[in-house]
Amino acid sequence: MPAWMWLFYATIGALCVAGDCFRLLRHLALCLRKPKDLRRRYGSWAVITGPTSGLGWSMAMELARAGLNLVLVGRDPAKLQDVSDKIARCHGVQTRTVVFDLSLVSTAQGDEAMRRLREAIEGLDVGVLVNNAGVNKPGALYLHEVEVESLMRMVRVNLQALTEVTAAVLPGMLRRRRGAVVNIGSGSTLAVPSFPLYSVYAATKRYVAVFSKNLYVEYKSKGIDVQCQTNMVSSAAKNSLFPLFVVGPDACARAAVRWIGHGPLCVPNLVHQLQCWAAAFLPEILGDTYRLAMHLHQRAIFRMLRSSRAHPQGNGGSSVDKFY
Ligand SMILES: NC(=O)c1ccc[n+]([C@@H]2O[C@H](COP(=O)([O-])OP(=O)(O)OC[C@H]3O[C@@H](n4cnc5c(N)ncnc54)[C@H](OP(=O)(O)O)[C@@H]3O)[C@@H](O)[C@H]2O)c1
Repeated sequence: MPAWMWLFYATIGALCVAGDCFRLLRHLALCLRKPKDLRRRYGSWAVITGPTSGLGWSMAMELARAGLNLVLVGRDPAKLQDVSDKIARCHGVQTRTVVFDLSLVSTAQGDEAMRRLREAIEGLDVGVLVNNAGVNKPGALYLHEVEVESLMRMVRVNLQALTEVTAAVLPGMLRRRRGAVVNIGSGSTLAVPSFPLYSVYAATKRYVAVFSKNLYVEYKSKGIDVQCQTNMVSSAAKNSLFPLFVVGPDACARAAVRWIGHGPLCVPNLVHQLQCWAAAFLPEILGDTYRLAMHLHQRAIFRMLRSSRAHPQGNGGSSVDKFY
C-alpha cells in the first residue's frame, strides 16, 4: 500500500478516536455539571406515561425531586393512585392522574382517554413530557410464533400512543415557546444493528429514534427540545452474564433526567454509553450471531416459564426460578 494511503487511513482512524474521546469527555463533563433547573427552563409540570414501575417510576420520582408537578398517565387506577400518593408524600409536589390504557389508542375508549388527558393538562404549564410506557411482551419469539394481536398491542403502545400523546402535549409547549419531550428508546434503537426475535419491538424503538430526531429539527427553533434516550434498564436483565453492565432503574433515571435537553439522541448512562461503543467495534456478523444465540436462550427460558405456569405441579418451576 502506498505511503499516502497509510497516512489517509491513519488520519481517519485518529479522527474517529478523537471523536469518541470528545464524546466521552462531553459525557463526563455533563455528569459533573450542576443539573439544569428543569422547572425554570421548561415549566412547572411534567407528564409521564408508565410511571407505575421500572424506569417510569424512578423518573417520576426524579422529576418530582427536581420540583416538577406531575401528570401521571397509566392504565391501572389503583397503582396510579399509589404512585401519586407516594410522590406527593415524598416530594410535596402536586400530582394528577389520567387512567389511559395506551394499547386502546385510536379506539373509542382510547379517544375518550385522550380527551381526559387533554382536559387534565389544559391550563397547566407543562414543560416536560416523558413518553416512557413501552412493552416488549411477548418476549423473544420468531415472528410466526407470535399472536398478531399482541404484536399490534405493542405497536399501539410503543409507537402510536407515543405519537398521539406527543401531538396532544406539543400545542401548549408551542404557545409557551418552551418544553422538552423525552422518548424512551432502547438498546435496539441505535446501538445495535439487529435485535433478532424482538423484531417488532426493535422496529418500534427505531421509529421512536427517527420520530424524535425529526421533531428535534422541527421544533428546536421554537424552544422545544425533543430527544430519544437509549436506556437499557436492568429489570429485564437482572440475570445478565455481565452484571457489571447492569444498571438499575434509579441510576438510569438520574442520568436520564440530567440529560434532558442535551441533543436529539443520547445514551444517558455512562455504562450504557461504553456498551454502545463496544458494540460499534464488533463486526456486524458476530454481533448478529451473538444476539441471536442470546435471544434463543431467552426464548427457551420463556418457554420453560410458560410451561411451568401451565403445569404448576411439575418440577419445571424450580429450574425456572434459577433464572428469575
Ligand atoms: N427493561 C429493559 O430492559 C428496557 C430496556 C430498554 C428499554 N426499555 C424501555 O424503557 C421503558 C420502560 O421500561 P421498563 O422496563 O421500566 O418497563 P416496565 O417496568 O415494564 O414498566 C412499563 C410501564 O409502562 C406501563 N404500561 C405498559 N403497558 C401499558 C399500557 N397499555 N397502557 C399504559 N401503560 C402501560 C406499565 O404499566 P403497568 O404497571 O400497569 O403494567 C409500566 O408503568 C420502556 O419504553 C421500555 O421499552 C426497557
